[in-house]
Amino acid sequence: MAMSVRSPFVVVMGHVDVGKTLLLDKIRGTSVAYREPGMITQHIGMSLVPWPAVERFAGPLVDRLKLRGRIWVPGFLFIDTPGHAAFSNLRKRGGSVADLAVLVVDITSGLEDQGAESLKLIQSRGVPFVIAANKLDRIYGWRSVENRPFLFAVEEQEWHAVATLEERIGKLIDELSRFGIEADRYDRVRDFSRQVPIVPTSAVTGEGIADLLVVLAGVSQRFIPRERLQVADGPARGVVMEVKEEKGLGVVADAIIYDGRIRKGDVVVTAGLDGPREARVRMLVMPKPLEEMRDPEDRYMAVEEVRAAAGVRIVADGLEGVVAGAPIYAVWDPQAIPHVQKQIKEEIAEIKIESDREGVIVRADTFGTLESTILFLRQQGVPVRKADVGPPTHKDVVEAVLSRRRNPAFGVILAFNVKVPPDVEKEAASSGVKIIKGEILYRIFDEYIKWSHEVKT
Ligand code: GTP
Ligand code: MG
Repeated sequence: MAMSVRSPFVVVMGHVDVGKTLLLDKIRGTSVAYREPGMITQHIGMSLVPWPAVERFAGPLVDRLKLRGRIWVPGFLFIDTPGHAAFSNLRKRGGSVADLAVLVVDITSGLEDQGAESLKLIQSRGVPFVIAANKLDRIYGWRSVENRPFLFAVEEQEWHAVATLEERIGKLIDELSRFGIEADRYDRVRDFSRQVPIVPTSAVTGEGIADLLVVLAGVSQRFIPRERLQVADGPARGVVMEVKEEKGLGVVADAIIYDGRIRKGDVVVTAGLDGPREARVRMLVMPKPLEEMRDPEDRYMAVEEVRAAAGVRIVADGLEGVVAGAPIYAVWDPQAIPHVQKQIKEEIAEIKIESDREGVIVRADTFGTLESTILFLRQQGVPVRKADVGPPTHKDVVEAVLSRRRNPAFGVILAFNVKVPPDVEKEAASSGVKIIKGEILYRIFDEYIKWSHEVKT
């Protein structure tokens, strides 16, 4: 089968308001200014920035770092993740769809809550990452020049501005070391396999954007195995990011395709709460090229085919009840459908847990958040008796009661991003089963630890 190399998926994460979206806008805008028409393409939930566009505007930096002609990644597919659930849903068997992550922090305020949370998620999935220390323009006394590479900019500053910057970076390095991470300003990193590069950026002035892209290219080539980026010319493999009702289209699935291709008319197999689902693709929808986008009402167009790497909206009958984080595979040979269904069934079974050993009960809203929750609990040494997608049920309360008999600290249901039905809540209360719910994994966990100490004493 013919193979080609795709662009890596780069997921952008961090605390609220650190500048994730603006940074991506700036990357797009900056690259757009230097590209051939039609080169930067918008996908559903992501944007493709080709390396030649980067090289054109980051030229002097590329030369200074002696990288010209040495980059083989075709570009980057940036994914903006509003919230952590989105990152969790980027799951695939044995890891994450994300090839790389950019952890954006506000250089004036450090890691912050959700930055720390992002960091733990990135680490738990083993995704290589770089840190963008954003809002560089806010450093007192910093003199900005539009789109200037950081490496050149830092040489042109007054000493006190550099001193302030260094103090901030030092603080960040200290903070990161508490997570077991060794980091340094990217131009001082000697060993990228041990140290995480920090790239100062400004999403407002565009400073450091060139550096960020160049570092991403370097890190991609160094740490993403080439085989991982090789795509086959076969039926698509992807993951469902979101399922929603769209006016005039019915239920659609926004998916990320990381291998192969998907065509209008293809059969896709994916999964709902109750098992595999089959649907036929009626329409594939992509955003229009940037230059053709006029009014917001007219942003999308139908396409015949989509190749990895891509983000695409899939319109098909039969997507009702499909759960985010579910695999979605195209099938070209009708005889292969049962086999693919079996594969998906097995994969879903691997995420859920059903055992009779002692441990907590876990509920989450998607396959992605369920997997992340279990992964996290395991890393913290908390055993899980049962884990499933969807709201807690009566049966979960019974399971929790059974689990509690062996250990009082396991008489609990941890409900991540799901509503608890009132009757289940009532039953739990009357049988002395604790329900801890919330939308932030680490908060749920902290509350659980606190509660477990209380019941043990
Ligand atoms: P959420 O999606 O809500 O988590 O936020 P975000 O991380 O996407 O941040 P966003 O890009 O929306 O920026 C938040 C605010 O910070 C906006 O008011 C931006 O103008 C400002 N901002 C972002 N980047 C910079 C920067 O580099 N310098 C300065 N001075 N302001 C910035
Ligand atoms: Mg944003």
